[in-house]
Amino acid sequence: MTTTARLELDGKVYELPVIVGSEGDKAVDITKLRDLSGYITLDPSYANTGSCLSEITFIDGEKGILRYRGIPIQEMAEKSTFIETAYHIIFGHLPTRAELSEFSDLLTKYELLHEDMKYHFEGFPTTGHPMAILSAMINATSCFFPDLARSTRREDLKVQAAVLLAQVRTIAAFAYRRSRGLPTIYPNPMYKFTANFLHMLFSLPNKDYEMHPEIVKALDLIFLLHADHEQNCSTATVRMVASGQANVFACAAAGVCALWGPLHGGANQAVIEMLEDIRQSGDDGSNFLKLVKDKNSGKRLMGFGHRVYKNYDPRANIIKRQCDELLSVLRKDDPLLDIAKRLEEAALNDPYFVERKLYPNVDFYSGIIMRAIGLPPEMFTVIFAIGRMPGWIANYREILESPTPRIYRPRQIYTGKTLNHYVDKIQRSSVPVQ
Ligand code: CMC
Repeated sequence: MTTTARLELDGKVYELPVIVGSEGDKAVDITKLRDLSGYITLDPSYANTGSCLSEITFIDGEKGILRYRGIPIQEMAEKSTFIETAYHIIFGHLPTRAELSEFSDLLTKYELLHEDMKYHFEGFPTTGHPMAILSAMINATSCFFPDLARSTRREDLKVQAAVLLAQVRTIAAFAYRRSRGLPTIYPNPMYKFTANFLHMLFSLPNKDYEMHPEIVKALDLIFLLHADHEQNCSTATVRMVASGQANVFACAAAGVCALWGPLHGGANQAVIEMLEDIRQSGDDGSNFLKLVKDKNSGKRLMGFGHRVYKNYDPRANIIKRQCDELLSVLRKDDPLLDIAKRLEEAALNDPYFVERKLYPNVDFYSGIIMRAIGLPPEMFTVIFAIGRMPGWIANYREILESPTPRIYRPRQIYTGKTLNHYVDKIQRSSVPVQ
């Protein structure tokens, strides 16, 4: 395999190093290109840009492969839990029993919010979107842990990770309770991570939530499947913010904001809204697919397509199976699941989707599970954010520990006006608008 690339510009040849990853990914290293030639590369939306070297997650989008630190997602989904997976992603190895127990103790230690945080919740309107509350409150958490927030010491990362993972779950539950006008329920250290979250969401002061093991398993799996996904929009945002040396809470809050949009994490909410619209219109999905194929309609089949996967998203397969299992155990029927399956089948046999290699992604079926659990659509992206926290923390850590730390600062090609001059107000009416 070639070790250098040759680029000819203005009659001069530049030799650029070729980098090969551990799974054979290839890249031309253009770090010195501008210094050498005066040229930059242009790649709006970064579809061809590797922004970093990373050891966390491997995706082969053509083959539909996803691995967390080398372990296939299917194995993690079958054998692991969210917290064990989080540890693996953040610290680089599966924890020993002692490590897992120490980390679980830390999660319990930091699961309570500072009482003063409750006043912040009261300031939000009950109609506020929980993603707005989540990002604001994660940022606010740094004010309650100022030393920890400031610290860039490697030894403090474990506590930072535990604080973030534990508090984000409590914040999410409190945000939900606020939106329903319900009293807050404090975490119960008797429960493990996901069961504790369900308890905070659904228990009442006078009645504990009846814990259903299948629901706990399904939600834990959703967290696990979202735990990392290499350089997606929110993770790239976290790295960007971290490169400016902002604290880990600020980075995570930025990740939440980036995740919110319907093309990214917000797609899970958008899928359910889309399916509900189809159901209410009485369409069997075929009219909607026609609309999606008409570029002027502005509609997309939400939960379909991916920048990296040009094959079935392996997470979608696992979620679809879990979805069937959960509904059957709970003896629930969801008409939206039938519509989703019909849409999937029609799309996978439609030349528009086949030619563009558009397959269901992680968001296509996850909303149906979350509905079955009893979560409202506006909480779906919050669940994604809790799940993605380990990935954000691990990527933050890679920036922190980079042997060549440097602020992220892309360049641009300027296409605006060339030099022109200030015109006094009095003369402006006679000056034509440029
Ligand atoms: N429905 C209809 N057409 C689509 C869709 C879709 N969901 N996705 C892509 N296309 C078309 C697109 O219009 C374009 O067509 P043409 O070549 O004729 O212009 C072609 O497929 C390539 O699409 P693209 O916009 O270049 O793809 P992208 O890599 O920029 O966007 C995406 C990826 C995920 C934003 C996009 O597929 C999409 O909008 N999907 C729906 C939203 C969604 O489900 N997002 C969740 C992504 S997975 C979880 C996550 O990362 O958060």
